[in-house]
Amino acid sequence: MTSSGYTLTDCRKCRLWTGRAKIVNGTGPRNARIVFVGEAPGRDEDLTGEPFVGRAGRILNEALEEAGVDRGAVYITNLVRCRPPENRRPRQDELSACAGHLRRELAPMDPVVICAMGQTVARSLFGITKKMADVTGKELPLEMGARRFRGMIAYHPAACLYRRTNMDSFKSTVRKSLGMAGMV
Ligand code: URA
Repeated sequence: MTSSGYTLTDCRKCRLWTGRAKIVNGTGPRNARIVFVGEAPGRDEDLTGEPFVGRAGRILNEALEEAGVDRGAVYITNLVRCRPPENRRPRQDELSACAGHLRRELAPMDPVVICAMGQTVARSLFGITKKMADVTGKELPLEMGARRFRGMIAYHPAACLYRRTNMDSFKSTVRKSLGMAGMV
């Protein structure tokens, strides 16, 4: 496992620390050309301390594999580093408390593309309130402070579990994002 170098070992800025087993930091090479951002750890991630290792992770792995890209070549992280109870969506104060961690994690990195997975991430990073169907697969500029990236919004992989059309869209958005990053 590699990481950007920003490894959080303790944080009690919001209520989520009380229920966590492990803090889930991002993984991947510091020089990754693309960063995939998910919402928050689930049960498997909370137990292992690694992002996207459960069911949603298998879908992400499959999309990367089908595009011919090794998971080890991309950076994967989350908006929130501790598992919300019952896998509920992170609340606004939890998102705000964790936002600085993502900013500091990305600070030493220079990715070309940031791919937001799911509506919560699209809202939080892009301020998007439109329906996911209207924004997935379309490139958008993403500004984070003074930094500017090529941005992309994909369905969350968990939203693909029971919807074939979401799965097709997710996989083609992942491939497109990798193409924008010059990886396929
Ligand atoms: N869902 C997410 O948004 N992130 C993970 O790490 C796992 C599942």
